[in-house]
Amino acid sequence: MPVTIPSDRQIRDLHERYAPNQAAFDLVYTHCEIVCAVAEQLLDGGHPALDADLVRAGCLLHDIGVYRLYDQAGRLDHGEYMRHGVLGRDLLRELGFPEQVARFCAHHTGVGLTADDVRRHALPLPAGDYLAETDEEELVMYADKFHTKTTPPAFVTAAGYTEYVRRFGPDKVARFTAMVERFGEPDLAGLADRYGHLVV
Ligand SMILES: [Fe+2]
Repeated sequence: MPVTIPSDRQIRDLHERYAPNQAAFDLVYTHCEIVCAVAEQLLDGGHPALDADLVRAGCLLHDIGVYRLYDQAGRLDHGEYMRHGVLGRDLLRELGFPEQVARFCAHHTGVGLTADDVRRHALPLPAGDYLAETDEEELVMYADKFHTKTTPPAFVTAAGYTEYVRRFGPDKVARFTAMVERFGEPDLAGLADRYGHLVV
């Protein structure tokens, strides 16, 4: 059965409904839009087998769970940030979204978390693998690595992310390198210009 993919309007409405304040919306929704722009640029590089509409919805929704980590005062709980993926997945499930859409939330962190990562690092996640299993999930995960919601938000090059991920082990570097080879590197200069974020 074909997956019912939410429209851009529906997704933006969800962000507006769950964002605790304007600053959170601006941070998270803008990041999701940027990840979407990165993914679409990479898709244009020639990956016709991927479902472009599903990738778009996945990018725009992947961080919706971040809103659930803000407290009453509008502060983000950075200590629990790792949970944003499963929180987003659970939210979309509660709202009746198809599993193929909800999965983007729980399956985009880093270059994928294994059950072994969860156990060894005592991550605050239910036991299990959080890996990209479909091509669309892998592209959303990969595109997400090129922009970060730091203060101020910034674009990250493939070389920059490789340096960052090295601390998590050579297997993570290898996973990222395989994605670079598969999808290529996005041209971040135009996006950096359009959004006024630096490339670091
Ligand atoms: Fe993200």
